Amino acid sequence: MHDSKTTATPLAYDERFRPQLHFTPPTGWLNDPNGLVYYAGEYHLFYQHFPRDTVWGPMHWGHAVSTDLINWTHLPVALQPDDLGYIFSGSAVIDWHNTAGFGPQAMVVLFTHHDPHDSKQSQSLAYSIDRGRTWTKYAGNPVIDTPSNLRDFRDPKIFWYGDESAGGRWVMALATTSAILFYTSPDLITWQPGGSFGSGYGARSGVWETPDLFQLPVDDGPDTRWVLLAGVGDGAPAGGSGEQYFIGSFDGQTFTSENEKDTVLWFDYGADNYATQSWSDVPHGRRLVLSWMNNWQYGRAIPTTAWRGAMTMPRELRLVRTPSGVRLSQAPAPEFQAQRGQPYGRSNFTVPAGETLLLPPLGLVFELELAVDLPEAAAGTFGLRLRTGADQHTAIGCTPGARTLFIDRRRSGLSAFHDDFPALHSAPLAAQDGRIRLRLFVDRSSVELFANDGTVVLTDQIFPTGEEMQVELFAGDTPLTISRFDAYRLQSARFSK
Ligand code: FRU
Repeated sequence: MHDSKTTATPLAYDERFRPQLHFTPPTGWLNDPNGLVYYAGEYHLFYQHFPRDTVWGPMHWGHAVSTDLINWTHLPVALQPDDLGYIFSGSAVIDWHNTAGFGPQAMVVLFTHHDPHDSKQSQSLAYSIDRGRTWTKYAGNPVIDTPSNLRDFRDPKIFWYGDESAGGRWVMALATTSAILFYTSPDLITWQPGGSFGSGYGARSGVWETPDLFQLPVDDGPDTRWVLLAGVGDGAPAGGSGEQYFIGSFDGQTFTSENEKDTVLWFDYGADNYATQSWSDVPHGRRLVLSWMNNWQYGRAIPTTAWRGAMTMPRELRLVRTPSGVRLSQAPAPEFQAQRGQPYGRSNFTVPAGETLLLPPLGLVFELELAVDLPEAAAGTFGLRLRTGADQHTAIGCTPGARTLFIDRRRSGLSAFHDDFPALHSAPLAAQDGRIRLRLFVDRSSVELFANDGTVVLTDQIFPTGEEMQVELFAGDTPLTISRFDAYRLQSARFSK
């Protein structure tokens, strides 16, 4: 048995593009987060993994644990392909009332078996009764067989719905072509079909994948909404795959959106956020999520070495009331404040029109927070340039006239590995009380940008070739007034095996 507390050996994790705060596999390919569950003081992270190569292949479930969402210990691969096929995406719960009969507090995962010969997809189960260290696949797999008329039928996300003891049941959300199907079960083994959601709703430019469904309070008050997440395989705002969400209600059988059919809500406007999943069983009602920080469009070609694929920072979700309706608000888990070095802060200063202000060096991994006053007459594009060298930089900018916020990675470093990589990605953004607030997390090969209380988010990978660390502010055609600016170098997380 492999116990993280006694045998962990630190990994160097020091290659040029190796993320210092984002989860990556030691070697091999990674895509979707799977089986996110909190149990006995540990956050479990399973993930779509091909250990033998740095491209997608026969899918396994890689596994790691963390006590703080920052430092991770890799554990042995949890699930290997078998006679029923590859182990595609799925989720985990703790079976507190032993409904399945596997033993007290069993950790149970539901995943998709993908048969590589005929592409059939069915849902299967595995469980662990030793804190996720060893796994047994259920002898009666699959627990939901392939319906004859469906090709895409995958990515079960399960949760307990209803009363703790009586009248409650397990619910599964499952993705098919452009809809989410719901199933219910008393014991995680026998499943009955419930309702479905999708028909005509949201972005339908690609296959829907990796759903999630959960309830959250609005503005931390007594009013609540259900949030349905659905990955869209193609045609997202930055191109390729992206994550959309719906706000509405759930009655135990089906989800109903409270918005018009053609309302599309994007979880992230950058190119690199997909397959978002939330952790089950987190204490105090926190809704923590993780996404694959990559894109099916070019994900197989990104120029990393021993590994390929990273996760976003774990983010905490809230719902907020905005002028256009109830919306998600995201922030990196507050646990990351522990990584901050000496703060550098300034208040109320101005960068003259058309000029640039160089900031003190912040290293390769840092956090920036700034509040910009936005007068009615603000003109041109203002923002920040980071990882700036003679021939490269990544720009983060705001164009108030066009009401947009963007990340421009066209000159960010290595980008010729795929035609779709070099691009400018933008999101709609309006000032709030005459101000724009930005929060930015930069790692060795990524930028995560949270604007206006995290209601607008952009995540992009970048691959700067030099050691350029310069960060500068640039004003547009009118002076740039910064009411508050805070920056921190961030200490690397510890990854061990
Ligand atoms: C999403 C996805 C899932 C599937 C998995 C296969 O990125 O396509 O639908 O289960 O990846 O690796």
